[in-house]
Amino acid sequence: MKFNVITFGCQMNVHDSDWLIRAMESRGWEAVEESEAEVFVVNTCSVREKPEQKVYSVLGRLGGYCTKPGSFVAVGGCVAQQIGDGFFEKFPFVRLVFGSDGIAKAPQALEELAEDHNKKLIFNDFLTDYPEREKVDSSPYQDLVPPGIGTITGQAFVNIMQGCDNFCTYCIVPYTRGRQKSRDPEQVIEECRNLVESGVREITLLGQNVNSFGMDSGGTGVSFADLLYKISAIAGLERIRFTTSHPKDIAPEVITAFGELPNLCPQLHLPMQSGSDSVLKRMGRKYDRKRYLEIVDGLKAACPEISLSTDIIVGFPGETDEDFEDTMEMLEKVRFESSFSFKYSDRPGVAAVKFKPKVSDDIAQKRLTRLQERQNHITRESLERCVGRETEILLERPSRKQGEGDIHWRGKDPWGRVVNVPLSGITDDDSLGGKLLKVLITEAKNHSLFGKKVGNPW
Ligand code: SAH
Ligand code: SF4
Ligand code: F3S
Repeated sequence: MKFNVITFGCQMNVHDSDWLIRAMESRGWEAVEESEAEVFVVNTCSVREKPEQKVYSVLGRLGGYCTKPGSFVAVGGCVAQQIGDGFFEKFPFVRLVFGSDGIAKAPQALEELAEDHNKKLIFNDFLTDYPEREKVDSSPYQDLVPPGIGTITGQAFVNIMQGCDNFCTYCIVPYTRGRQKSRDPEQVIEECRNLVESGVREITLLGQNVNSFGMDSGGTGVSFADLLYKISAIAGLERIRFTTSHPKDIAPEVITAFGELPNLCPQLHLPMQSGSDSVLKRMGRKYDRKRYLEIVDGLKAACPEISLSTDIIVGFPGETDEDFEDTMEMLEKVRFESSFSFKYSDRPGVAAVKFKPKVSDDIAQKRLTRLQERQNHITRESLERCVGRETEILLERPSRKQGEGDIHWRGKDPWGRVVNVPLSGITDDDSLGGKLLKVLITEAKNHSLFGKKVGNPW
């Protein structure tokens, strides 16, 4: 069968889609562009209202393709978990719904539904343990992945847990991904080893709250710091990153690891959400700005050049001008290299739905714009400081926009910064993805760097 996967949401969803594509390819299915596909999978996100609304508009569009017999749509991910069989009623061409834990059964279900055109299936139950999935071929890495999925040669994601127990008062994730379930550390390490053997150089460990790895019924006494040290020791693994980290759970051993593990990248995404103590309290985050700054100081002491990024919500119910100024002040104190910022969005069933007063969209938008403008400025300044430095990038793929003449390749430096380099005499078919290249940074753009290769590596 020819199939197409459309993915919304976080890196966990991106990684889930990647796994599903590989699992279907191993069954002889072929991943194709949307216009050529017979079966469609939409992997959904409901973290804010906007991505949820997008799912309905995409389904409307896909309905137009499902006119041939045997053509159908599967809906997976967080909106699927939330709406469940409601999708069958609204969209007759949807024949499979799978939630967060149900994805393990999706490949077989897709095959069954391709055979039996009258069948509909739903997998929406939460499990109590991390559901191990069938092992899929991890190489050749890029060829299996259609455009838009974002998997890159030489780098891979590895799930270490599923779900979240934090119930931050604005967040739907604990309802859509279920309780925290840590994966067996031996399985994690084995997957990392296999990936490295198949040519992967950079691994990003994934979970909604990786710092609390092992602190649930799936725990075997191995902490997140222990896991990091074990994975770091895998021969041939050049780079490790992890996401996401809740500040309340970051252990001192994880902070010191940034100074000790040579292949742990000097980069951390540490969602702050707000710089106001009263907002943080009502968000249920369980840290205050003082504690957040202590963590930042610890990280900078362990790894002075560490690049920090964050998530920020503006317009949380009850956020005053003063609260917002506190957030703006934290941008100056921490100097995040980048931040993802969002207007608060009411989600069904979360505690903050009942919090008052709501901040008007107009005020929230003004705060968001001001914050993003300031952040863009700080980002630009940090990038400008890189000019003239030598660094090493892991090549990913030819850059989308290519200038005249030389082919440009895009890669990331250890700090996670995107660097574009022209490579003369190289064509875009040459498989440079996954290779490390020494570069000199020559120019800073708004969100990326430009460099030139140093020496002759090939
Ligand atoms: N587990 C991660 C967050 C996953 S959700 C963590 O704790 O950091 C990704 C981001 O979406 C959050 O960090 C938050 O900034 C944002 N977000 C979550 N719920 C939201 C809501 N209701 N409105 C606006 N932004 C939200
Ligand atoms: Fe949501 Fe909070 Fe869990 Fe992150 S830690 S997924 S923001 S409930
Ligand atoms: Fe979205 Fe679910 Fe991830 S709500 S952010 S896809 S955990």
